[in-house]
Amino acid sequence: MIIVIDGPAGSGKSTTAKAVADKLQIEYLDSGALYRAVTLIYLEANRDSETFFRLLDQKKITFYYIDSQFHVCIDGASVTDQIRTPEVANLVSKVAAMPKVRTFVNELMRDAVTDGIYIAEGRDLGTAVFPDAKLKFYMDADLSERARRRYNELKKDNPGLTYREVKLNIAERDRQDTSRDKDPLIQSKDALSIDTTDLTFEQQVDRICLTINEQL
Ligand code: C5P
Repeated sequence: MIIVIDGPAGSGKSTTAKAVADKLQIEYLDSGALYRAVTLIYLEANRDSETFFRLLDQKKITFYYIDSQFHVCIDGASVTDQIRTPEVANLVSKVAAMPKVRTFVNELMRDAVTDGIYIAEGRDLGTAVFPDAKLKFYMDADLSERARRRYNELKKDNPGLTYREVKLNIAERDRQDTSRDKDPLIQSKDALSIDTTDLTFEQQVDRICLTINEQL
């Protein structure tokens, strides 16, 4: 069974979905992390399409959720930290717009969700990847608030990073994610909408857990 949360960067999807997974003891799936791992392969291919698609066929991406962290490996080597660099953040939406990449990541996810209960988060999970999901949420927040959250998250490991850079990156990713041809970011008609601009983290988690407990 699958529950999905879609929404733009910084809306609180990841932290909320992880907290819900831990509270309800269910599995967690981070689709953005898979697009980020594919972006590393694109960088390894020096942004050359032919080399990239050849490498994508050859490489094995695996992932698991443990101790509140979603881990991703390429050919058995962890890339969990590497996928969070600004270089990857700046390129990922371009890579994620390639139809072959979307088909590849969608297959990875559908193959992973077999037994058990999953909460998965991304941009198109309720519309394209898991249209029959048992429950769908759409989380959003003001751009400035989303940028503030993401900046606070990233500044520890990236001392040179500025709030302005983060805001520009998020605005550009929103633009690319909502305007791509294949499976753009859009709220599924049957998704419950949650605006997190003025909600605390605990309120977001409680709201989703309450709905899950009521509806399942
Ligand atoms: O969630 P996160 O910010 O890590 O996602 C990174 C990028 O991956 C997004 O900006 C988006 O371009 C892409 N993505 C996507 N579809 C998803 C999840 C992420 O296109 N389901």
